[in-house]
Amino acid sequence: AQRREVDEVLAPLRLSHADLQKVQALMREEMERGLCKETNASASVRMLPTYVSHTPDGTEQGDFLALDLGGTNFRVLVVRVTEEGISMASEIYVIPVAIMQGTGNELFDHIIDCIMDFQTKQNLVTERLPLGFTFSFPCQQVGLDKALLLTWTKGFSASGCVGQDVVQLLRDAAQRKQHLGMKVVALVNDTVGTMMACGYDDPKCEIGLIVGTGTNACYMEEMKNVGTVEGDQGRMCINMEWGAFGDNGCLDHIFTHFDRVVDETTINPGKQRFEKLISGMYLGEIVRQILLVMTEKQLLFQGKPSPKLQTKDIFQTKFLSTIELNGLALRQIRAILSELELDASFEDSVLMREVCQAVSLRAAQLCAAGLAAVVEKMRENRGLEQLSVTVGVDGTLYKLHPCFSQNLQKTLKDLAPNCNVSFLLSEDGSGKGAALVAAVASRNANAMQ
Ligand code: BG6
Ligand code: GLC
Repeated sequence: AQRREVDEVLAPLRLSHADLQKVQALMREEMERGLCKETNASASVRMLPTYVSHTPDGTEQGDFLALDLGGTNFRVLVVRVTEEGISMASEIYVIPVAIMQGTGNELFDHIIDCIMDFQTKQNLVTERLPLGFTFSFPCQQVGLDKALLLTWTKGFSASGCVGQDVVQLLRDAAQRKQHLGMKVVALVNDTVGTMMACGYDDPKCEIGLIVGTGTNACYMEEMKNVGTVEGDQGRMCINMEWGAFGDNGCLDHIFTHFDRVVDETTINPGKQRFEKLISGMYLGEIVRQILLVMTEKQLLFQGKPSPKLQTKDIFQTKFLSTIELNGLALRQIRAILSELELDASFEDSVLMREVCQAVSLRAAQLCAAGLAAVVEKMRENRGLEQLSVTVGVDGTLYKLHPCFSQNLQKTLKDLAPNCNVSFLLSEDGSGKGAALVAAVASRNANAMQ
């Protein structure tokens, strides 16, 4: 009887092959709508032009600053690109929540302070270096160095930024601080930075994927299909902003009670609905909601609710990764749970693992359905029977979770059998890619002078 009740709770999270095919088809529809000028505004997947039209070709050169804002860590980097290869130095700086959610001026002033500190430490104060900015939020780009913030996502909400040109906000802050040691030449999304960084090592890398705090993908689309930008020649990288897939209601049929509760308690309810099923910022919360319901149904912890379990974000996504580790003794799961002041029996630990598996498997499968839509579109675009392509990937969840990547790859094979997809882990972050984009931008700017 207990088994039946557990299955009943978890059933809505289990997606069939047909469910996933439907998600793939819906993603494809939203992609088409996003690419088309007339329907773009109402598409949940915005398909934003990035003004990046080539993956790296090895001719990029010079010294660059890079910023990487919007993932777990805020980084300032110096990237040296030479014929022999790339060398980098970087530092992680903290962005306190009060600044993430304060005013735009405070946020950008803080960023400039960090850059100034970094340049001093690296003895780079006398130079005026071109800077590539990885900014991992949705922006309407008008060029490589003009990007209007459409909305904040993840935990950010700094005021006075939405609708503004983020590059200009950074330049204004530099001016306020009279910092002349940098020149912002390009802004890229983290997916784009990741694709470019991986593209430096593998020319077949034409897709960027992030599964971390948030989730998103970019890929090389044919210009003739990009109705939102003039011109028909060549390709352009499109930042899909797939985290918002479903914000128009098209995924309502797969949301569970738990997903709805998690969504309602975020700072952006109703937004980034696909992301809230997949990424690191939310999976732990989904698990916590399921545990609460299971406790209420007397299926866990002898029905005794622990006050700790009532605390938002107590169950971090890294716990999911640990609990699912193959071969991890139940004893160790109990130890993790006791850190959360949950007194778990062996049966509880087994069930906990099952809950984590159900949530992370669904996340990987949904991510695969999204990617399947992308690779199938690229294959059709190019009139190929078989497409061979590499995805550059980054993000803590993808990197740390013991089975996410395996589940993703297996499901992708099922959903897109005519595509041969390899995954390349980004080793040194997307700042490297932002520097490569900056290299091309400053080369072009110099050529025009
Ligand atoms: C980093 C990239 O390695 O991964 C960032 O440099 C990106 O640009 C991040 O945003 C995504 O992962 P997470 O888990 O830090 O959100
Ligand atoms: C969020 C952002 C997106 C970013 C992703 C991964 O979805 O909106 O721009 O790429 O997180 O960091």
